[in-house]
Amino acid sequence: MLESLPTPCLLVEADRMQNNLDTMASHLDQHEVALRPHLKTCKNIEIARSMLDPRSGGATVSTLAEADYFFEHGIKDLLYAVGIAPGKLSGVADRIAKGMQLTLVLDHPATARAVANAAEQFDCPFRLLLEIDCDGMRAGFKPDSDGLLEAAGILANAGCKVAGVMVHAGGSYLCRDPDGIRDMAARERASAVLAAERLRAAGHELEMVSIGSTPTALLGDNFEGITEVRAGVHVFQDLVMAGLGVCRTDDIALSVLCEVIGHRPHAGQLVVDAGWMALSRDRGRAPAGPDLGYGLVRDLNNGDLGELIVQGANQEHGLIGHRSGQPVDFKRFPIGTRVRILPNHACATAGQHAGYWLLKDHNREPEYLERCAGW
Ligand SMILES: Cc1ncc(COP(=O)(O)O)c(C=O)c1O
Repeated sequence: MLESLPTPCLLVEADRMQNNLDTMASHLDQHEVALRPHLKTCKNIEIARSMLDPRSGGATVSTLAEADYFFEHGIKDLLYAVGIAPGKLSGVADRIAKGMQLTLVLDHPATARAVANAAEQFDCPFRLLLEIDCDGMRAGFKPDSDGLLEAAGILANAGCKVAGVMVHAGGSYLCRDPDGIRDMAARERASAVLAAERLRAAGHELEMVSIGSTPTALLGDNFEGITEVRAGVHVFQDLVMAGLGVCRTDDIALSVLCEVIGHRPHAGQLVVDAGWMALSRDRGRAPAGPDLGYGLVRDLNNGDLGELIVQGANQEHGLIGHRSGQPVDFKRFPIGTRVRILPNHACATAGQHAGYWLLKDHNREPEYLERCAGW
């Protein structure tokens, strides 16, 4: 069946995906903390259902388009985990009026004022988490900042619900080893707990103390004071996670199927019909190493081909060669040979495609699953 799918296309191995979900679930069960899966990686309802944790029931999204798609498919409790743009508040109020239990995040008193004004204008008591920064990587109030309490006060005075705090340790993707990730997990938790303590001391009744990224969720060993963990990449895993030691290369459930369309004797490389449009431009752990180009090449059955990587990517052409610089043996890969590329970053690669082929039962009858798109 893999011989006849149109290339390039995205494949998901159902067994590997289930193993990845089981690994996360058993780790969090052991620590008695709920998962609020981040659905930005899968963007598909069938996969999302297998990720939900009955203890939280809710999910995380990164766009309002995802919120709409998952709400239409029955998931009501949604955390929109990107700082709210004031221009989106009227649309958010419409969604809440339709029954979506949408929680927003913000990290600036000025945004809190915009939310307070919109709450009055649209007669909508928005529900919010205050985003906390634990690693200086992206967004968030410092947990000990005055702005945190100021923003919470503005929201509460406007009748909005300050439901809790949210921390995402994006710095975990840059760690050198599992010990570094464990330190980052400890920092992520400590920042959330400190911010929550300060808000509670100021009189806010918090329901959510939400932390997480795939590395810190899987390697964290203390979740005291935390009500839920967020993770999304764990569903497929990818080469970045394997490079961090968070999973094995053989756990990666996502791959791009493509076909050899040319040989480059002068460069010792194959040409395939998957360029950056199919793989994304994400170079994964190239800066920290190992540099796996635009992805690691596997055979049609996901078998190991050594360190064959996508060394170059044009829009629709991928150039495959040996990491060592040795020329590829063209006799092994005649024109028309199909191979798979494991992704550097699952969210980025999947984001290039409109859907997946889900492989089960020894690849008999792959099932096509759509992905939602846009913002
Ligand atoms: C706010 C937030 N929470 C959770 C996650 C999930 O982390 P991961 O992609 O490592 O699974 C992300 C990912 O970017 C995020 O931005």
